[in-house]
Amino acid sequence: MATFDAYAITDTLNDNLLNVVANRLEARGKHPFFNQMLNEYLDIMDIDSAQSVLDLGCGTGVAARAIARRSGFKGKVLGIDISAFLAKLAAQLAKEEGYEDSLSFKAGDSRSLELADSSFDAVVLHTLVSHLDNPLAALLEAARVVKPGGMIGIFDGDYASLTFSHEDPTQGQQNDQIIVESVVTQPRIMRQLPRLLKQAKLEFVASKPYVLTEVGKSDFWTPALNSFEKLMPASGSVSEARATEIIQGIFADSEKGVFFGSSNYYSYIAKRPIST
Ligand SMILES: C[S@@+](CC[C@H](N)C(=O)[O-])C[C@H]1O[C@@H](n2cnc3c(N)ncnc32)[C@H](O)[C@@H]1O
Repeated sequence: MATFDAYAITDTLNDNLLNVVANRLEARGKHPFFNQMLNEYLDIMDIDSAQSVLDLGCGTGVAARAIARRSGFKGKVLGIDISAFLAKLAAQLAKEEGYEDSLSFKAGDSRSLELADSSFDAVVLHTLVSHLDNPLAALLEAARVVKPGGMIGIFDGDYASLTFSHEDPTQGQQNDQIIVESVVTQPRIMRQLPRLLKQAKLEFVASKPYVLTEVGKSDFWTPALNSFEKLMPASGSVSEARATEIIQGIFADSEKGVFFGSSNYYSYIAKRPIST
């Protein structure tokens, strides 16, 4: 059976699944640790000094709104997402928060942008690259549209490390593999980035590692798991019944206080050299 990562094909998903995606992104965007990871790389990028920022794979606009909320930020952010549904929702959520003047959103493909060379002070790719069939194409586009000397921030899960425990470790390992295969296209992409940055002729500036582990009860992982239950069968890799069995088994562990869920996350900050 052909399988795919639902986040990679949001331009073709039905509205029910897009609402599942949107709810998950918004829930994740409210989590303090997720915000800490985002703001730490925005600080390193000195995002507050940017007048124009591009948010690639913006989804519902979590990163764009986080940038707009920073007291030192006085610029504008353009969010681009392959899903017109998510870009429209991002615009609505930005307006509800009073950011309609500083944030705008439109549909577009990060692998081939209809944007002029050297037109942004900074670019962020916040949990986009793990979903792309060709992450280098998006990095090359980011490198093209950022101004010489401008910063690019890339953040994503190292989903090859995503794991949930199961009373039978062998079954747990199989379940992890099913989950990762059905929700991510590039589970090892954050290990490839040093190579890809070089290929995109970007200068490595910094990187920060994180481990998002919850023990006993699930909190951050709860909305993620709820969305996985719906998105896994949509990927074609697993039946609805099996997805429910896997995810409800994990929730049952959380009820019993024996939950273990974890993934590594990394941010990378890179710079377009002045001379290119
Ligand atoms: C995991 S979500 C991240 C959304 C948002 N950055 C956040 O962190 O909340 C990945 C996003 O990338 C978008 N996406 C997938 N492929 C894309 C592409 N080729 N170009 C632009 N956006 C894409 C999806 O529609 C989805 O909104």
